[in-house]
Amino acid sequence: MKIAVLPGDGIGPEIVAQAAKVLEVLRSDGLKIELEYATIGGAGYDAAGDPFPPATEKLSKEADAVLLGAVGGYQYDTLPRPMRPEQGLLRIRKGLGLFANLRPAMVYPELVNASTLRADIVSGLDILIVRELTGDVYFGQPRGIRTLENGERQGFDTMHYSESEVRRVAHVGYQIAMKRGRKLCSVDKANVLDTSMFWREIVSEVAKEYPQVETSHMYVDNAAMQLVRAPKQFDVVLTGNLFGDILSDEASMLTGSIGMLPSASLDSNNKGLYEPCHGSAPDIAGKDIANPLATILSVAMMMQYTFNLPDVANRIEGAVHKVLQQGIRTGDIYESGMRRVGCAAMGDAVVAAL
Ligand code: IPM
Ligand code: MG
Repeated sequence: MKIAVLPGDGIGPEIVAQAAKVLEVLRSDGLKIELEYATIGGAGYDAAGDPFPPATEKLSKEADAVLLGAVGGYQYDTLPRPMRPEQGLLRIRKGLGLFANLRPAMVYPELVNASTLRADIVSGLDILIVRELTGDVYFGQPRGIRTLENGERQGFDTMHYSESEVRRVAHVGYQIAMKRGRKLCSVDKANVLDTSMFWREIVSEVAKEYPQVETSHMYVDNAAMQLVRAPKQFDVVLTGNLFGDILSDEASMLTGSIGMLPSASLDSNNKGLYEPCHGSAPDIAGKDIANPLATILSVAMMMQYTFNLPDVANRIEGAVHKVLQQGIRTGDIYESGMRRVGCAAMGDAVVAAL
């Protein structure tokens, strides 16, 4: 199990260090785990003048899985776009063909009060957003800023989805829905966008291959509303890159704690990149207060999806759950009466529970 570890920027190195402790435990218990480190994002720019340095690309392509912390920092905000940390993320997704992004949003019973929504709306919530990750207006060409004939400047991007792109991510969505609650809601903007009309047509075709799954289609504006009105109506939400970006942030906040949410980005062979849903949080970097649980839970997803070891995944998730039951909390999920710990101590608590 060759794992490329890309800590990145901000809190990335701290949270990844805790996940590495978990991997060390699994190694000492007999899994053949090899970790190799490389830079990405601002760290890549600092070390090699490139947010996705060639050495990182090579290592990531050779590895079976990639564990990533986060990218971004204030000092990089004024760099020209190709040098910005986010480009590292977009290029590794595209370069490794990681077209299926899985973003679960679940509410742990212990954390039900962390949500800004009423407990009865979110308790028991368990949604999985399947976001297409290598197409859409994110990567469509042409794009840019141009001057029109009348002399006015104009910014433009191109939204498109090819049939194979829609089909393959739809299959991922349905296959996961089969293992979960067998409900899939495809989200688009088919009342306005041709790209979405086409998306809906192809998803409807793929749906016929999965008659056991209850399929629905929803416009993205309505989906944004339904997510805060009655989020438990959803099981798997399948959507494109841009809508998935927005809806997954919204869904994460239903749980009250973006610091708890892992993600997986998979290629067609289940090779994957695993990262927390949250960003690099430069304001709290280096203070040992970040929540490492999303990164640790990303390791659980890695065990499940890339290495096909559901027992190991369950063991990690169980350890995280146990730590929450013990009342151990980082600041972002702290409630009075609980034991407040830092990032490293949270990692140690999970290791102890493992
Ligand atoms: C995400 C992020 C990225 C995206 C940014 C950092 C490029 O918001 O992973 O959701 O838009 O995909
Ligand atoms: Mg986002």
